[in-house]
Amino acid sequence: MKVCCLSACLVAAACAVAHAGSGDTQKLLDFYANQAKATDSAFGGFSAERGESLFRSNSTGGKPDTPSCTVCHTKDPRNVGQTRAGKDIDPMAVSANPQRYTDQEKAEKWFGRNCRNVLGRECTAREKGDFITFMLTQ
Ligand code: HEC
Repeated sequence: MKVCCLSACLVAAACAVAHAGSGDTQKLLDFYANQAKATDSAFGGFSAERGESLFRSNSTGGKPDTPSCTVCHTKDPRNVGQTRAGKDIDPMAVSANPQRYTDQEKAEKWFGRNCRNVLGRECTAREKGDFITFMLTQ
């Protein structure tokens, strides 16, 4: 954070946003970690590797035209994605879009919708945390 304020942030307001963003992402991860612990006593933390696999793998459980997250979010999470109707979707990678995963309500809404479309079921708390952990590395 210091690096941000000393070198990158020329505008104080932009700096404040960056701080709030990363803290809120951590809060969201804590929220999912608590849920994961409550349902799985063997929960041992989130994994970027599992998150990547969730992001990239194909599923036959959901809607036939959306077998994978990458259909809309592209194979590179730093890219702008596209909805089925051709509307742009901002990048999913935190490096390309620091506003991602900072709002629990938004994250829950879209995990709900997209996991049902792609997997045909809700994502577990562990899957959600894995996904965000992967996106933090991108
Ligand atoms: C049919 C297209 C489509 C597919 C497939 C899709 N998404 Fe999305 N996703 C969207 C759209 C549209 C948004 C909302 C627009 C935005 O946030 O820019 C979104 C937003 C999200 C968000 C909100 C992130 C935030 O800002 O907090 C998450 C999380 C997410 N998607 C996860 C997934 C996961 C996980 C999969 C695969 C299981 C997936 N998406 C597959 C279209 C899709």
